[in-house]
Amino acid sequence: MSIYEKHVFVCENQRPEGDPRGCCASKGASAFTSALKQLVKDAGLSKKVRVNKSGCLDQCAFGAVAVVYPEGTWYRGVTEKDALEVFEQHIRGGKPVERLLLKRPEKS
Ligand code: FES
Repeated sequence: MSIYEKHVFVCENQRPEGDPRGCCASKGASAFTSALKQLVKDAGLSKKVRVNKSGCLDQCAFGAVAVVYPEGTWYRGVTEKDALEVFEQHIRGGKPVERLLLKRPEKS
């Protein structure tokens, strides 16, 4: 059983400029992490919801990338502007933000 009700990992991996893989750090990941952390703190949910930065989650082309457990919901292209929506709709409301979901390609 998890200590937290929700645990969010945000890739903040950084690569040198010009690396063909790109990185989430150059796409605003840390601003998203900071905004989400602040929302959790301001709502008094720090004992129930944990937001951590992570290393590369191997989805670099879709950065900035985040994943929410225990449900394992992946987000792509998150920025600081998306933090409030993810917090209100998903973290508090339990409903993932559809427009930001990183979906697996259909198997053929
Ligand atoms: S650099 Fe963020 S997923 Fe790889």
